Amino acid sequence: MKRIKTKDYVEMSKRACRKVIEAIERSDQPVLGLATGSTPEGLYDCLIEAYKKGHVHFGNVTTFNLDEYIGLSPDDENSYHYYMNEKFFKHVGLPTSQTNVPKGNTGDNKRACEDYEALIRDAGYVDLQILGIGENGHIAFNEPGTPFESRTQVVDLTESTKNANARFFDSIEDVPTKAITMGLKSIMESKEIVLLASGVKKADAMAKLIHGDVSEAFPASILRNHPNVTIIADEDALSKVRD
Ligand code: GLP
Repeated sequence: MKRIKTKDYVEMSKRACRKVIEAIERSDQPVLGLATGSTPEGLYDCLIEAYKKGHVHFGNVTTFNLDEYIGLSPDDENSYHYYMNEKFFKHVGLPTSQTNVPKGNTGDNKRACEDYEALIRDAGYVDLQILGIGENGHIAFNEPGTPFESRTQVVDLTESTKNANARFFDSIEDVPTKAITMGLKSIMESKEIVLLASGVKKADAMAKLIHGDVSEAFPASILRNHPNVTIIADEDALSKVRD
């Protein structure tokens, strides 16, 4: 894994933004894999700014998001679909027809998972996947213990993840207990992966990712088996990593 250490969150976001623009420029039909959470918000802001200045266009871009809560409709303010529309898609002219977010409210989750895998395959797989990381090492919603062979599936969220995400909801009771998420194998099929991390809260996870074992107990460790991963993280997130 390549590693880029930035001085802070703003620089992390700018470096990631440059990577995304390069990926878009490299391909006639770029396919981006996108993440939610607080970490990529600066990246989306930077891409919006670049779009407004005419430095990047999304006309031929297709996007796939990693995950969505089960039971929330796309217009629910806490859904990841809503997050993506509000924080990114609507600002860069990305029409719904070019964006994909797993569907957590169809009533047929098995079908929704299979359909999502098929959509990614038909698009020729993800060229550049953006990832965040959970404090317990989850990527997307693949919690510790998720098989490395997993594909898009419905999962139970751990207490740790529900607690971490409760800040977006009125109360912890409102945090959904299940999510639909791309699996670890689906993520590993991306041609290139950029993992973002910022802040001391991620320092233990980053130390484990870089120095720990490759193990299903720490889902992000699967990335060590991927040939093209770049970690872009700030000094705080890398404060427990040996150089
Ligand atoms: C969430 C998301 C992940 C995200 C992670 C970290 O639960 N499902 O895709 O990477 O947690 O979130 P944050 O960036 O807010 O720390």
